[in-house]
Amino acid sequence: MSKPRFITFEGIDGSGKSTQARRFADHLRGQGGDVVLTREPGGSPGAEEIRQLLLTGDTDRWSAETEILLFTAARRDHLEKTIQPALALDKTVVSDRFADSTRIYQGATRGDLREMVDKLHSLMIGREPDLTFIIDMDPATALERGLARKSGEDRFEDFGLAFQETLRHGFLALAHANTDRCVLIDGNRTADQIASEIAAYA
Ligand code: TMP
Repeated sequence: MSKPRFITFEGIDGSGKSTQARRFADHLRGQGGDVVLTREPGGSPGAEEIRQLLLTGDTDRWSAETEILLFTAARRDHLEKTIQPALALDKTVVSDRFADSTRIYQGATRGDLREMVDKLHSLMIGREPDLTFIIDMDPATALERGLARKSGEDRFEDFGLAFQETLRHGFLALAHANTDRCVLIDGNRTADQIASEIAAYA
């Protein structure tokens, strides 16, 4: 099998996936790889503007349906401006979140909207990662860690612990349904232990 070139990290808020995405990108660079580390929502100037709309304000600022449209709009711009150009230049792309986040955060928390997410994804995105690491973690610990950051981008953390537990189950089910590209990682360990397990996929 050829080396994976589009790699994503997924998980609940505070699961440590941003740290692991950065460490994996650094590891690949250490091996001589040409790597673009990016994130969602965001990763291009337009998508970063949409990020502000999505992650700030009250929990009821947007319905799940409106979120699907905004996250997909941001993703389309990210794909056009950052991901596709990098892959076309034979670079490796490591993204902190991608479409799986919409499948779970919007598709499986406030009603079953998965079909709507999937339809819009095939219409507007139509691309899956080659490899996805899903960092699984205890939701209470993760939420505490996420809120302690005081990032000012806590709209989804503000939905509370039950929401994070629903997300965790959604990500576990997604990992089991997509074993061709998803690797489930136990996030209840030190960052070093997790990073060394992930580094083996480089
Ligand atoms: P993060 O940068 O801390 O991961 O924050 C992004 C937040 O946005 C996080 O709470 C998950 C949420 N999100 C969605 O709800 N749907 C999506 O499609 C994406 C990419 C993120």
